[in-house]
Amino acid sequence: MFKVAMSEQAPAAVADVLASGHIGQGAKVDEFEDALRSRVGNPRLATVNSGTAGLQMALRLAGAEGGEVLSTPLTFVATNWAIMAAGLRIRWVDLDPSTLNADLDDLAAKVSPETTAIMVVHWAGYPVDLARVAAIADECERRHGRRPAIIEDCAQAWGATYAGRPLGNHGNLAVYSFQAIKHITCGDGGLVVFPDDDSSRRGRLMRWFGLDRDPGALPRPEQNVAEWGLKFHMNDISAAIGLANLDGVDERVRRHRANAAYYDRELKDVAGLELTRPVPGSEPSYWVYPVKVKRRDDFVARLAAAGIAAGQLDPRNDRHACVAAYAEPLPKLDAVHDQIVCLPVGWWLSEQDREHIVNTIKSGW
Ligand SMILES: Cc1ncc(COP(=O)(O)O)c(C=O)c1O
Repeated sequence: MFKVAMSEQAPAAVADVLASGHIGQGAKVDEFEDALRSRVGNPRLATVNSGTAGLQMALRLAGAEGGEVLSTPLTFVATNWAIMAAGLRIRWVDLDPSTLNADLDDLAAKVSPETTAIMVVHWAGYPVDLARVAAIADECERRHGRRPAIIEDCAQAWGATYAGRPLGNHGNLAVYSFQAIKHITCGDGGLVVFPDDDSSRRGRLMRWFGLDRDPGALPRPEQNVAEWGLKFHMNDISAAIGLANLDGVDERVRRHRANAAYYDRELKDVAGLELTRPVPGSEPSYWVYPVKVKRRDDFVARLAAAGIAAGQLDPRNDRHACVAAYAEPLPKLDAVHDQIVCLPVGWWLSEQDREHIVNTIKSGW
């Protein structure tokens, strides 16, 4: 289902850093951040050492001290365990069976004075309707006098756009992951994109104990930490890998999209299979290609017998014992959870591979 996208330039780039005498956060991180600024289209950002660290930073920046975070159960557990790490309560939002993202009617119903933040996950690289989420937060402010922060988990969504702009340009805190099998990998790494100068300044300090490492900073012994931070920073080794892998990422995303368009055409009339619907105004990056199928176990077994890796990817998070206290009825998720399966859709598929996948599915299961 996945393949690591590693540039042939990466080993030499890493060797240069290793030989340079500086392997911590330094010039390569600065260079990577400059390259990311022009790609994301927002100058306010900070690399971190994982998407999970980025989510924890975002939750602190959101002023999330106490209270509840509305979140989806259909995501990798990193999204929700970051909420636990921040000492906040999770309130589950039901699933929209057509988009497989949070049901925004349920979100609107559950937002309350207790809502400190709304965690939006662009699952599988399919953007959420951010205009509607913003309207829900605005309405909460009108009714309760406080606007919940919106945090976007873009870990699976490098390259996706909403309203014609890359994620990270919609007035929210947005967090990407550069973990091993993402569209861009640093080995491990992440990126936080900030909506304003104040959160950018705080975040860039928070990623390394609250101390300033930017050019022009006061000497360390003269610095006084106003807001403590943790060890979230990226190092030059990871940044060198990320920089090398930035070259070629547009082509990789293009191939994910071309494969998805092929599946859209070929699978739309297959009985017993339902496609996932992107929201209007969005362009997904298709990290994987999720569909709903009848008799999922038979479907997965049929594909496995033909040498095709397909699977559930992210099972619902709300059934884990560690979040039992937050359990609540999620009828729409219940109705479709056991039908959701992800197909490989990535840059590594040849035309023959994707034809083989489609023909296998069309032959029945
Ligand atoms: C939806 C989602 N959120 C967060 C993360 C965490 O990212 P990282 O592994 O970089 O900490 C992942 C990683 O797979 C993810 O898929």
